[in-house]
Amino acid sequence: MNGASTYSGLVDNAFWFILGSSLIMLVGITLTLIYFLVKYRRSKNPNPAQIEDNRKLELLWTVLPTILVMVMFYYGWAGFKVMRDTPDDAMEIIVNARMWSWSFQYPDGSQSAELYVPTGQPISLKLRSADVIHSFFVPEFRLKEDCMPGRENHAWFETTRDGTFDIFCAEYCGDLHSQMLSKVVSLPPAEFDRWLVDNASNISPEFLLQVKGCNACHSVDGRKGIGPTYKGLFGKTETVVTDGEVRQVVVDEAYIRHSILEPQADIVQGFDPVMPPMKDQISPEEIDILIEYIKLLK
Ligand code: CUA
Repeated sequence: MNGASTYSGLVDNAFWFILGSSLIMLVGITLTLIYFLVKYRRSKNPNPAQIEDNRKLELLWTVLPTILVMVMFYYGWAGFKVMRDTPDDAMEIIVNARMWSWSFQYPDGSQSAELYVPTGQPISLKLRSADVIHSFFVPEFRLKEDCMPGRENHAWFETTRDGTFDIFCAEYCGDLHSQMLSKVVSLPPAEFDRWLVDNASNISPEFLLQVKGCNACHSVDGRKGIGPTYKGLFGKTETVVTDGEVRQVVVDEAYIRHSILEPQADIVQGFDPVMPPMKDQISPEEIDILIEYIKLLK
């Protein structure tokens, strides 16, 4: 039952306190009810008494519940404060949610489909979504935070032991919502460092879009920028201007590759020819990563 993050105990405190006091009240109220039912039954008390106000009693049933809910508030606040206060030395990992998968991007720009972290190191999460609202939920860490399109949410955690922990999506997001699963893998720091070295070649497309400057002009969510959006691009029929001639092309891998290397060759109608050629600035492998990513942006 114990959680696996440094603050899970604080969340549990609030939970157990509320559950415990509710149980005590449920039992107490039910017993009192039964006692009164028997003691003041009609055969014994044919004439109901008319009770005037009772200061002491009224004060008691106002003050006691107030104290009780203030204690509940205290436990809730104590946990909330810690959960919202990211330590300065936290390692930053970007969580990318999309229909219907998770990907995690590390400070070196590499990515993985499962979230690897070193045990005992605070992890700061930047939560993003490529499409609709998802919710990043790790029950064993007592951590749940929404991933919203068009804005960035924050959360943090620090694991207390090595292990593998489930990740769920906790916001209904379409057909495969229930299968939007992944894992947190918490490793001893030295093992994590080795894993990160092995993972370095799995460059994240989101990282590429940023370091190559693509996202300055091309959106991934359908917004019109200086260049066409990547959303819904793959397989689409596009009207382009080639050597002054208007023609139709179907966007496939070859077209995207050519348009990255030689952007001036085919200019999509309605856009200015302002993209610099990427010939010497991007590798064939990096282009493949981007093409696979664009295919996902339906
Ligand atoms: Cu993503 Cu539910």
